[in-house]
Amino acid sequence: MNYDEIKNLEARAVIPTYERMPLLAVRGEGCHVIDEKGKRYTDFLSGLAVNALGYNHPEIMQVLRDESESLLHVSNLLYHPYQAPLAEKLARLAGLDRVFFANSGTEVTEGAIKLARAYAQKRYPGRAEVLAVENSFHGRTFGALSATWPEKYRKPFEPLVPGIRFVRLNDVQSLKENFTPGVAGLMVETIQGEGGVVEITEEFLKTAQALCRANDALFICDEIQCGLGRTGRMFTYEKFDLKPDVVLVAKPLAAGLPLAAIVARENVAQAFSPGLHGTTFGGGPLQCRLALKVLEIIEKPGFLEHVRDVGEWFRHELRELKKELPIIHEVRGDGLMIAAELTVPGKSVVEQALEAGFLINCTQEKVLRFLPPLIIERHHVRELMAALEPILAELAAEARQEVHA
Ligand SMILES: Cc1ncc(COP(=O)(O)O)c(C=O)c1O
Repeated sequence: MNYDEIKNLEARAVIPTYERMPLLAVRGEGCHVIDEKGKRYTDFLSGLAVNALGYNHPEIMQVLRDESESLLHVSNLLYHPYQAPLAEKLARLAGLDRVFFANSGTEVTEGAIKLARAYAQKRYPGRAEVLAVENSFHGRTFGALSATWPEKYRKPFEPLVPGIRFVRLNDVQSLKENFTPGVAGLMVETIQGEGGVVEITEEFLKTAQALCRANDALFICDEIQCGLGRTGRMFTYEKFDLKPDVVLVAKPLAAGLPLAAIVARENVAQAFSPGLHGTTFGGGPLQCRLALKVLEIIEKPGFLEHVRDVGEWFRHELRELKKELPIIHEVRGDGLMIAAELTVPGKSVVEQALEAGFLINCTQEKVLRFLPPLIIERHHVRELMAALEPILAELAAEARQEVHA
């Protein structure tokens, strides 16, 4: 089927929860997505931070081929060879002890809320509150949604899960005021992704961790978007030497297949016992074997340095462009999690970039967000900048005309 046929069929057959870009993707190669007519798009989105190793990575493809001939699924009633080694590796990398595997970011957020309550209720009966941070995004299922800030996501589904409250972003006073004895845990995206690539201050994160320690509440870092190499470290919280009790990872973990993990400290993990939590698909052999390979590649010498180097240079180029085009209000980010906040809506920039052969994203209406594969090279960035410059210059000219009209 061609693009129009697929588009028309989807309009009739798919529940309309997504606004799709006009692109029928049929193949991927390295940092490129290829449409049905053979047009190549340089990908600065990575399937929403999932395709960290790009497309068709030869080592990933080899694992897929090997495992597809042995075992795809066995359920969590049996052992298989890859879950335990992956758990051990993730725990070691995070400086923690045990892992629960699930399928998506929202599902591990859900699990972390349950874990915080299970941990607290064994020790402090009745303690059940979870703090989240304003402007956060943790997912779409009820618990995760209740910890997600934008009203437009939450309001239509009320009543939500009780006992989840928000503290003001980067406001230490708000953190202290809200940290009442009923708090079982605090969940924070170490860098907010959907919220517009907003960095959380060191002071806020360290105060949150200290308050959790002092109250024996869980300090939970949601590294679902910013973790596993995205910011040039295995985990973003390493930047501030934090020691979370629970770390959540998902998106890039299994190279494009669904896999997510709750990584927890030993005494916290013991709050779950057989039957208290579970999932049919989580931690299957194919996904776990892929994830072992993904981590092996991220750990290779030079990989994370490359992320830091290209990311820094990318932000430098955006800042240079900002000097010429004040329509760029602010450049933010860390590693290859980057945003250019505009003074005007960015939807048309995304559309024109797509026409020019670049996949980018806009969040929070005005924030151009760049989440390229971590294997992106400087020349890809240079090509994007060359395409963005005239698009933004024209938008700036239009904005000036509107002001004068
Ligand atoms: C920080 C963060 N947490 C949780 C989620 C939810 O993950 P999923 O879409 O896999 O349920 C996302 C998704 O964008 C995210 O960015």
